[in-house]
Amino acid sequence: MNQNTNKTVLILGANSDVAKQCIIQYLEKGFSVMAASRNTKSLEDFIVTNNLDQKKVTVLYFDAADFDSHQQFYNDLSVKPHIAVYSAGFLVDNQKALRDFKVAKQMMEVNYMGGVSILSIIAMDEINKNLERIIGLSSLSGVRGRKSNFVYGSTKAAFTQYLAGLRQELASRKITVNALVIGYIRTKINEGLELNESLIMEPDYVAKFIVNAGNSFTIVPNFKWKMIYHILRLLPESLAAKLP
Ligand SMILES: NC(=O)c1ccc[n+]([C@@H]2O[C@H](COP(=O)([O-])OP(=O)(O)OC[C@H]3O[C@@H](n4cnc5c(N)ncnc54)[C@H](OP(=O)(O)O)[C@@H]3O)[C@@H](O)[C@H]2O)c1
Repeated sequence: MNQNTNKTVLILGANSDVAKQCIIQYLEKGFSVMAASRNTKSLEDFIVTNNLDQKKVTVLYFDAADFDSHQQFYNDLSVKPHIAVYSAGFLVDNQKALRDFKVAKQMMEVNYMGGVSILSIIAMDEINKNLERIIGLSSLSGVRGRKSNFVYGSTKAAFTQYLAGLRQELASRKITVNALVIGYIRTKINEGLELNESLIMEPDYVAKFIVNAGNSFTIVPNFKWKMIYHILRLLPESLAAKLP
């Protein structure tokens, strides 16, 4: 019997283009999936269109920014997850975020605060002996503050640091925490942006790194992005300041 047959993955922000590919790939690996999103209709359509096994996928309503609902959302889960993936994300242009705190705050709420809220609830439920892994989708934009996207980047930097600490917190319970530090993906969050085509990854390619996450804390899909990640980390501030 497949070792994952009795295991369940909870995907938070499951209407993301990457998360949808994760649903398909987790099912292929034998997992059951609880797909949680604000947009349950779109997920239900996705399941039908792709002919996914409806006995193995449950669609749940989840709003990352409605923090007060998170404990009840977790309590109501019929099965407590073996794996939790946080993929909710929100991006607005940096100049807009600098001039309109409402949208900057929304990025903080979706990219960081929502993750801290729900993942802490999941992590601190010691009665759930199933839990073996928590995965957060973070970004290379959180590695260095850069002119073009530092408001969004700061929310991802905070999320990565939260995940790093959570990994230490959960190590004694043998629960692994991974941060996917991701470059450009062809998804709806980037619609309208002009990105370097040679660096854009497809959602199903990135999903493979998520569903096959191992023990490393930081996972950077794609060799080119790995190089960029290391360069960004080492770059002196005087040079980082010259980047867009
Ligand atoms: N695409 C990239 O280049 C890139 C790079 C690095 C990191 N990432 C991260 O990867 C993750 C997945 O993004 P993606 O690329 O797949 O883009 P995406 O398709 O736009 O997915 C983002 C998802 O977040 C969901 N979301 C936004 N606010 C939410 C809320 N309050 N509650 C619940 N869900 C909410 C959106 O839901 P709706 O569908 O209902 O709007 C959307 O499905 C995000 O965390 C993103 O920041 C993306």
